[in-house]
Amino acid sequence: MFPSFDIILAVAALSSKGLQLVSANPVAEVEKRAPYYPAITSPTAAAYWTIDHQAYVTWDASLVPTDADPIPWVQLYNTTDYGSANYVTTLASSFPAQPGKVTFTVPEVVPGSYFVMLGEWGQSSPHFTIGAIDIPSAPHIESPNTNTVWQLGTQQDVTWDTSNIREDAENIAFVDLYKTSSYGSAEFVLEIAVNIPPQQGSVSFTVPEDLTPEDDYFVMVGIWGNSSPHFTISQ
Ligand SMILES: *[C@@H]1O[C@H](CO)[C@@H](O)[C@H](O)[C@H]1NC(C)=O
Repeated sequence: MFPSFDIILAVAALSSKGLQLVSANPVAEVEKRAPYYPAITSPTAAAYWTIDHQAYVTWDASLVPTDADPIPWVQLYNTTDYGSANYVTTLASSFPAQPGKVTFTVPEVVPGSYFVMLGEWGQSSPHFTIGAIDIPSAPHIESPNTNTVWQLGTQQDVTWDTSNIREDAENIAFVDLYKTSSYGSAEFVLEIAVNIPPQQGSVSFTVPEDLTPEDDYFVMVGIWGNSSPHFTISQ
């Protein structure tokens, strides 16, 4: 038998207002709290974790509902040669969601490229590096950048990214000002700061009046080669 004309009309009405019907009958009104699995904010792809040292996974604490359940686990994975996710170990279990952070000691894995999942399958970080050797603190420099102009005699900041720095990371050995010599080599100008806790994220200093105004200055932070782009010091 064919469906009655009435049924065909009802189906047509439903499909033309389908979305409206769904939102007019909200499932969300059912008083049942869903577990909270936040998006990972760190580690980012730039992260470097050292075996046997502290590391952490973070998420946006400001988005966590006050009554959120504890997060069941954070797990470490790497990718097999066939491209599938390979479970390595659980880094922490059943920790509160509200602080936006969980800290643990990096297990003794084979150094390489890993990622983490937080709370549920697929809630992943990008791949990042786990190494066996503690590298000196050399964070990514955010300022000065190519648009920076420092005027002689003014107070200025060198700033760096703190999102991947361990709590027990060594101090940054130096922040130095360089310029490019006429032969193209790096010419040391002055020491801006030494022995700075990396979590500080910045150091301030006053640009000496006696520097030559040029557009080929740069800073190095922590290790040789961890440099900012060229920027300008002006009159
Ligand atoms: C994944 O990690 C495990 C544990 O460290 C290691 O044995 C294995 O070789 C790694 N696999 C790849 C493809 O790197």
